[in-house]
Amino acid sequence: MNTPKRYTITAALPYTNGPIHIGHLAGVYVPADIYSRYLRLQGHDVAFICGSDEHGVPITIKAKKEGVTPQDIVDKYHAIIKKSFVDFGITFDNYSRTTAKIHHETASDFFKTLYDKGEFIEEVTEQLYDAEANQFLADRFVVGTCPKCGNEESYGDQCEVCGTSHNATDLINPKSAITGATPSLKETKHWFLPLDKHEAFLKEWILEGHKKDWKPNVYGQVKSWIDDGLRPRAVTRDLDWGIPVPVDGGEGKVLYVWFDAPIGYISATKEWAEREGKDWEPYWKDKETKLLHFIGKDNIVFHCIIFPAMLKAEGSYILPDNVPANEFLNLEGNKLSTSKNWAVWLHEYLVDFPEKQDVLRYALTANAPETKDNDFTWKDFQARNNNELVAILGNFINRVIVLTNKYYSGVVPPSNSLLQIDEDTLAAVKAYPNVIASSIERYRFREASQELMNLARLGNKYLADEEPWKVIKQDEARVETIMYVALQIASALAVLSEPFLPFTSAKLNGILNVNTNTVENTWEGVSEGRELLPSGHNIGKAELLFSKIEDKDIQIQLDKLEASKKANEAANRVIEPQKETIAFEDFTKLDIRVGTILEAEKMPKAKKLLVLKVDTGIDVRTIVSGIAESFTAEEVLGKKVTVLVNLAPRALRGVESEGMILMTETPEGKLVFVNPDDPSVTNGLQIS
Ligand code: 2FM
Ligand code: ZN
Repeated sequence: MNTPKRYTITAALPYTNGPIHIGHLAGVYVPADIYSRYLRLQGHDVAFICGSDEHGVPITIKAKKEGVTPQDIVDKYHAIIKKSFVDFGITFDNYSRTTAKIHHETASDFFKTLYDKGEFIEEVTEQLYDAEANQFLADRFVVGTCPKCGNEESYGDQCEVCGTSHNATDLINPKSAITGATPSLKETKHWFLPLDKHEAFLKEWILEGHKKDWKPNVYGQVKSWIDDGLRPRAVTRDLDWGIPVPVDGGEGKVLYVWFDAPIGYISATKEWAEREGKDWEPYWKDKETKLLHFIGKDNIVFHCIIFPAMLKAEGSYILPDNVPANEFLNLEGNKLSTSKNWAVWLHEYLVDFPEKQDVLRYALTANAPETKDNDFTWKDFQARNNNELVAILGNFINRVIVLTNKYYSGVVPPSNSLLQIDEDTLAAVKAYPNVIASSIERYRFREASQELMNLARLGNKYLADEEPWKVIKQDEARVETIMYVALQIASALAVLSEPFLPFTSAKLNGILNVNTNTVENTWEGVSEGRELLPSGHNIGKAELLFSKIEDKDIQIQLDKLEASKKANEAANRVIEPQKETIAFEDFTKLDIRVGTILEAEKMPKAKKLLVLKVDTGIDVRTIVSGIAESFTAEEVLGKKVTVLVNLAPRALRGVESEGMILMTETPEGKLVFVNPDDPSVTNGLQIS
């Protein structure tokens, strides 16, 4: 038995400017939940902490856009997020929020402690100011060109393309995100955390102390930050949404969201401890406690440099033991985006796929972006379900339960005499807990999930090799042994699947009629090869653990994404402004007729031109049209078109063109014949 240890596990506090999507789940919440569940199964003392990150500029921007208050926005999304986590089986011990009173007090006190200890630099600097909006432009209130990578849409605090975190004044060509105006510079006082002062400690603690045990992607990012040289970072802002700066001269200013958010982990632990009648301090101050931060890669600098520097400066806190950050998950080849609605939203998934939480948990784990960015596709999701969960795990369990009911009316048979194959199989089962544990403890959740599936494969192979359905005709005692062994495997699967597939594990325990409080049905029980299901034990009836996902269900999801893509294109379309007004007489000068393309051929040596013969109703004439990059000659044959017939003839490459076919161009640059019913022809497109 392991000696129980105390763990404080934090999962990045999600911003409450939108719901949770699969990128958040794969990057942070699913691995953190697997890890926490695993530790609990090992008997450790775990505080798994999260909550809503409710301050920061994106929330005020969203509130402004929707004409509501920031509090309205955070209340709305906090409720959606909190419920979706519960429904998805994420077992936070506490899910708090940063607008909670306990958090305002904790963050405020933390700031005051550092202030009193002289850990801040107080400085009057020039900051970007939008005179039109009458406000300073912090963080996401300003966009401009990233000084590092040249991305023209970098935010004031961070560039989403190269990941660099900078000061708003570093941006080239800054523009206000509120009014679009070019900001001016105005003096204002702020408090800075002198990261340079902590450089030596950070070098020793991370670069020397964690070279081996931190993930290479995390270590590498931190090293490059430190190698670039650390500079003081402002921890206050001129904004009105946030935690007021609690010291003299702080009026009208708030704490920087990245100063208060990680303190949210501490406040949420306090809130939990109060509720549970526990002491919160050992979870944050006892050197024996292991503190782990589960985050996405865009949060590395905050959790590996800034927050540790804050904790160190305060003096009484422990530092993280590890920060197992993940890379990003993309969706069907494109970057996930809340604002572009390019996402699979958790709360919508739970409606579309009720009772299929474990399928998403499994698909995201098996394809987790642990060492590099990965792509989620609905086809892969379907395949993980149909080919692995249904065909391997579900199939094995179903065969075991059905046969036990059929042959023994649901009573676990005696083991009789075990053959070598049985001994070997039971020995292999016994090895799985350590194999899976070793992967989990190294934050290799993909690998761990595949090992779990290998255990189900082992079960299937055992049944396929031993063929109890055939042997039953000749040797009933042998079949008792086979089914006894198969039932032990099923029971081991119920135990070991719990961190990954908690709903399935519970259902399987129900079917097996297992009391999960016994010493046998534990991680340790499996690894010690204890008898998990004794002979004579009654199991329940068969129920399917998983069901096939059909192509039509996947198509609905793909259609949803396609609709978002269309909506985005429409929103981003640049519409040509209306031309000058013309007199009715001018319009009547145009003679537009319906015609049919009778012949078409490519103009030699001209990439864009097709030479057409068009029946205009008046005559058959030659029209040279610049559509060859969008259509082949064969494609336009027989097509009905609208033709401007009284356009002055023009020679194009020596061929006289006597009119013009009316076309329009979609936002993606595709030419189409004018037909307003065509779904790609949207409002505002110009005819030319
Ligand atoms: O990136 C984000 O979504 C942030 N809201 C994460 C905050 S983590 C923490 F420090 F609170
Ligand atoms: Zn950049």
